[in-house]
Amino acid sequence: MSAPSRRTRVGRRGGVALFHLLCGITGVWGSQVVVPQRVSAVLGKNVSLECRVEVGANLTLTQSSWERRLPSGSVTVAVYNPQFGISIPPEFKPRLRFRSPSPYDASIVLENVGFSDVGIYTCKVATFPLGNTQASTTVSVLVEPKIYVAAGSTALIDGGNETVVATCIAERARPPAEVSWESNLFGQSEVQLFDEANGTTSTQVRYLWQPTRHVQGQTLTCVVRHPALHGDFRIPYQLNVQFAPDISVVGYDGDWYVGREHVQMTCKANANPPAHHFRWIRLDGEMPEGVEIINSTLLFLRPLHRNDSGVYRCEVANDINLRSRDVRILIQDQSQAERSNSIAVAGAVMGAVLALFLITVFIIVIHSARKAPQPAFTDKVIDLPPTHKPPPPYSERAPAVPLGVHASQVAWLCQSRRAERAHAATDAPQPPTATRPGQQPSRLEWVSHQGGTERVYINHREHYV
Ligand SMILES: *[C@@H]1O[C@H](CO)[C@@H](O)[C@H](O)[C@H]1NC(C)=O
Ligand SMILES: *[C@@H]1O[C@H](CO)[C@@H](O)[C@H](O)[C@H]1NC(C)=O
Ligand SMILES: *[C@@H]1O[C@H](CO)[C@@H](O)[C@H](O)[C@H]1NC(C)=O
Ligand SMILES: *[C@@H]1O[C@H](CO)[C@@H](O)[C@H](O)[C@H]1NC(C)=O
Ligand SMILES: *[C@@H]1O[C@H](CO)[C@@H](O)[C@H](O)[C@H]1NC(C)=O
Ligand SMILES: *[C@@H]1O[C@H](CO)[C@@H](O)[C@H](O)[C@H]1NC(C)=O
Repeated sequence: MSAPSRRTRVGRRGGVALFHLLCGITGVWGSQVVVPQRVSAVLGKNVSLECRVEVGANLTLTQSSWERRLPSGSVTVAVYNPQFGISIPPEFKPRLRFRSPSPYDASIVLENVGFSDVGIYTCKVATFPLGNTQASTTVSVLVEPKIYVAAGSTALIDGGNETVVATCIAERARPPAEVSWESNLFGQSEVQLFDEANGTTSTQVRYLWQPTRHVQGQTLTCVVRHPALHGDFRIPYQLNVQFAPDISVVGYDGDWYVGREHVQMTCKANANPPAHHFRWIRLDGEMPEGVEIINSTLLFLRPLHRNDSGVYRCEVANDINLRSRDVRILIQDQSQAERSNSIAVAGAVMGAVLALFLITVFIIVIHSARKAPQPAFTDKVIDLPPTHKPPPPYSERAPAVPLGVHASQVAWLCQSRRAERAHAATDAPQPPTATRPGQQPSRLEWVSHQGGTERVYINHREHYV
């Protein structure tokens, strides 16, 4: 008996292993009839009752059949005989058939399963010369639930009391369905079971949660698990949390100044349901003239005045509530750019003053160093080429800058020097007045050389040596 079964296993190992994994096997290994231990049929659907016959090469299948065990005894529901054909009793004929009758396969299909089909079914095989073998399978009938999600009875309002968001229902299941809510909110689920007279159970799971607007639009998922379903059944449910307007004002950049044109402020509101009322008012006085309000925008139709400074309020309402936001507007005398420009100008003026001060100090230092005359140095200075243009008289030049000079004075000074330089450039060349060799330049002339634009060769090293 073990020899034929081993032989059949050689070629079908994969299939046999899978079959055992899925269905289990009835009887000891080596049995010639293989059926699953349990079969779950779904109410109203078709079910296959598998029966595989492992017939060795030396054996001949005489007949295979299915019997149903009832309290009153066993009844035959289907017979297959390779020689005589198929026989099914009239009461089963309309909804029972062999799937693919052969000496190796005695599986049947029962259609439109009802509760009355629950029970134990036996697959019997007669072979020659070994005789009968059989195996039984237990059929249970599952009832697939009707699944749906019902919204809570009240709207979800931000900040409201804990309330039922939604109820997930798996109606009339057998066995009872496993129902749960999947979410990352901090809510809680409440399970209720209702048993029906016919052995089915309805499961209702309510999801309770205290609404907050931060999760507006997020999704909850109802997950239903039931043996009659292929995998988890998931139903998403989108939250709709209503909340009062959340207002922001755009358009005031903090740089509103007298004379600025085309300025406006818009009140933006995030609200659910959408806002239906917008209003701009001024809190510290009358709304100024020359201002237009279009929907949520406050427009200045004219250049800004100083007295437009004030506190403005935007009001927004939706079905939930009315909210407002205040904006304090300050109209400056100058734009920010102008203000920073004047700071830059002041800085530049101070820098110029400092530079002039340093030059003055330098000149004074040189003066004091020149108190003792140095012939070697003056020789160099007077040794000018004949085309040398003489510096203008000292009286025309800018005076040495006194300490603590005022900015306006410095400006004047710069201007006069520029003018003088221009004058020197356009003037016709004058006869050279270079000091005669051997003659010492006066101290004043030396200074003018220093301050003038003329290039004078001065070797400082020689001077100080
Ligand atoms: C059951 O089988 C019959 C016949 O093969 C078919 O017409 C019917 O659609 C099947 N029912 C289901 C629910 O699969
Ligand atoms: C099957 O038949 C072969 C020869 O035809 C024989 O050797 C073998 O023992 C037989 N097996 C069984 C189980 O009878
Ligand atoms: C919230 O619940 C408290 C106590 O349960 C109740 O007094 C209050 O009226 C509820 N508020 C709302 C808005 O339903
Ligand atoms: C079970 O009973 C309920 C009423 O109690 C009925 O609505 C439902 O259809 C029945 N289900 C079946 C499978 O008979
Ligand atoms: C003001 O709102 C209404 C409807 O709310 C819209 O039809 C109209 O175009 C809006 N006006 C402007 C200038 O946006
Ligand atoms: C605001 O100032 C402008 C000019 O500076 C003047 O025409 C206008 O009347 C003033 N408005 C108020 C309300 O004082």
